[in-house]
Amino acid sequence: MSFDLDRIRGHFPALELEHAGRPRVYLDNPAGTQVPTQVLDAVRWALVECNANMHGNFHTSRVATDLVHRAHEAMADMYHAASPDEIVFGPNMTTLTFMMTRVLGPLFEPGDEIITTHMEHDGNNTPWRRMASDRGLVVKTLPFSRDTYDFDLDELASLITPRTRFASLNYASNILGTINPMREMVAMLKAAGVITYVDAVQYAPHGPIDVQELGCDFLVASAYKFYGPHHGILYGRAEMLAPLHAYKLSVVPDRAPDKFETGTQSLEGQSGVLGAIEYLQWLGTAMGSQHLRTDLPRRTAEIHAAMTAMAEYEHALSGRLIEGLQAIPEVHVHGITDPTSFARRVPTVSFTREGLDPAAMAEFLDQHGVYVWNGHSYALPVIEWLGLADKGGVVRVGPTHYNTLDEVDAVVALIGEFLAAH
Ligand SMILES: Cc1ncc(COP(=O)(O)O)c(C=O)c1O
Repeated sequence: MSFDLDRIRGHFPALELEHAGRPRVYLDNPAGTQVPTQVLDAVRWALVECNANMHGNFHTSRVATDLVHRAHEAMADMYHAASPDEIVFGPNMTTLTFMMTRVLGPLFEPGDEIITTHMEHDGNNTPWRRMASDRGLVVKTLPFSRDTYDFDLDELASLITPRTRFASLNYASNILGTINPMREMVAMLKAAGVITYVDAVQYAPHGPIDVQELGCDFLVASAYKFYGPHHGILYGRAEMLAPLHAYKLSVVPDRAPDKFETGTQSLEGQSGVLGAIEYLQWLGTAMGSQHLRTDLPRRTAEIHAAMTAMAEYEHALSGRLIEGLQAIPEVHVHGITDPTSFARRVPTVSFTREGLDPAAMAEFLDQHGVYVWNGHSYALPVIEWLGLADKGGVVRVGPTHYNTLDEVDAVVALIGEFLAAH
């Protein structure tokens, strides 16, 4: 079944909007995607139909309680988690991660070691460095190659010692686009008894996630990057979550996920997550049926089929974009460019050119209704490691499955035009 872009785009009202008489071109998807009608309807539904606190003895409260339960079940299916109790919702990835530093910190002794990487978004970097400085832990940083934009797993092995207790790992980079070999990395760390915390914020919009297959202890993502509302999701393996001491109110039950979901939950957020999952299921069945696996639960198989179909199409977008950029004199793409390796990257493409101010490029593209990000995109460890911190960072062009090849051609032409004049 072919990837029918018109049908896909028809689900996203924002794609119909114009910018000063031109169609808007959304290429800032790594910072946040547009949402389909399923999400808009689901958010509205929650605010109209069940705007009540959970666990009350009246109709709308029962509907709210059921909604929250269904949202946990749906996310567990998306990740192929063993139980909905392994899903913790929160405002966003960063807030959930800071919460986890407080919860996990007491497990570690001064002198224990943690590993992080140069490929992290700051959301999976600073929180753990703060935890380390609070508790006297040693931080070791895994570099990535500035030639191949990936990790050397032997180097990871060399960082692991009997004192290594924890690792924060980037699944896919929001600057380079690299997808890291997470299963292998987690397996190496698990074999040494290290707790693994995977940042899947950039991978989740572009590929299927199976936490049981990955074997990780924790995995975080944000629904607004995978076509949902502004809401964060933390997966924690049941055996990890159960003994953890949560900072919760005394009236909250001492079980997961309740003990980590403090205060009134965002019903509209969780409902919107359900809407995003409904959209992905639609896409998986309508356009990814050739990828439907029979060895997975139905909803998991549908979502994973959607992700696989999207990734296939996105390889064409990456190819066109990278080829176009590389044809412009002196443009340097910071990421994997070999088409035979596109399975190891998401379609996020960052570039620089000597003397180019990335902000000026983004402003020029905005004048043409083309939206891209410039700077460090909060991935300061990456930008510093690339030596670009004092050069304004990069220009980041981030297509996703609803973008067209024509949009990619248009942005490449505009970039070429700007660079020829500057
Ligand atoms: C790789 C990565 N990790 C973490 C985050 C932070 O996510 P949130 O905005 O949900 O805190 C982002 C946001 O862009 C990201 O790209």
